[in-house]
Amino acid sequence: MAEAVDFFNKTSEPPGFQVKCDKINEFCRDHRTCRDIPIVLVTSGGTTVPLEGNTVRFIDNFSIGTRGSASAEYFLDQGYAVIFLHRARSLQPFARHLPQTHLLDILQIQPDGCLQVREEESQKIAKVVERYHSVMREGRLLLVDFTSLGDYLHLLRATSRILNPLGKRAILYLAAAVSDFYIPVDKMPEHKIQSSNGPLQLSLELVPKMLEALVKHWLQEAYIVSFKLETNPDLLIGKARQALNKYGHQLVIGNILTTRKHSVVMVTQNGEESIQLNSGEITAGVEIETKIVENIVTRYNKFCEEQSH
Ligand code: PMT
Repeated sequence: MAEAVDFFNKTSEPPGFQVKCDKINEFCRDHRTCRDIPIVLVTSGGTTVPLEGNTVRFIDNFSIGTRGSASAEYFLDQGYAVIFLHRARSLQPFARHLPQTHLLDILQIQPDGCLQVREEESQKIAKVVERYHSVMREGRLLLVDFTSLGDYLHLLRATSRILNPLGKRAILYLAAAVSDFYIPVDKMPEHKIQSSNGPLQLSLELVPKMLEALVKHWLQEAYIVSFKLETNPDLLIGKARQALNKYGHQLVIGNILTTRKHSVVMVTQNGEESIQLNSGEITAGVEIETKIVENIVTRYNKFCEEQSH
């Protein structure tokens, strides 16, 4: 825990931190007093690691938020409320169905000057827009963005603390790809690193695993799902089990970088369950997140039942 505190002392709060916290507070207050549905904090996308105070350069990772944004939609389909903590400009629920490039190609200007979506696309997009407006009207989706590792962890801690009074109604779904290395503010140059100084050698410090502080201090009664990403399949189950034993939370979802879109393994204290898409499902465009979320909902309902006995 001391390591986590140290990390927060060595990184700054993100821009607009208080405004974001106020919005999260308001969202949770509304749900605490007026509704009785679970609230899922879905984290999504990669974190940057800045190399300079006035950041020109940073280290990044591969994640574009497919897992998080798709899962958020499926949790909303289950009637849950979702706080979607995502990397700025990564995929978002609903908006992810719009073309990510060449957006203008689906738009046309009518003779009267009005803008219209091309007919081939309009039905599909209308459905997405309808779903989006419906969850927003119901106050079930809150979008909060981050960019750097520090931003993400400050917001994760703040949101967890806000969710804590909700007890087991809170679910954490930690799908963001979080950096394990960073440069503390006091060891970072303030201004752009000059190439005239020659080749660059970097020394990065280890980021403490926040799952420990999360499970033991920030959110004691919630249902917590973390992910384990590996590239070597031989390591996956062992590492997932190690995390479960160390942090004592409910579920680790293991995935391998190259097969993550059609295969995951759900690891709990009681065993392992594999979730796969078959070739027919892949061709039909089924997303594995629909099965992951259904599986979690069943597990979560059982968890709530057990907790109330
Ligand atoms: O966005 P996509 O392209 O769809 O990819 C989805 C995904 C592969 C990123 C996602 O499915 C996934 O595996 N996310 C977790 C990636 C990750 O950070 O794995 P890890 O093995 O490095 O960390 C394991 C867990 O520890 C994570 O849940 C993370 O939240 C947590 N962690 C990580 C670093 C840190 N300092 N503290 C932590 O608590």
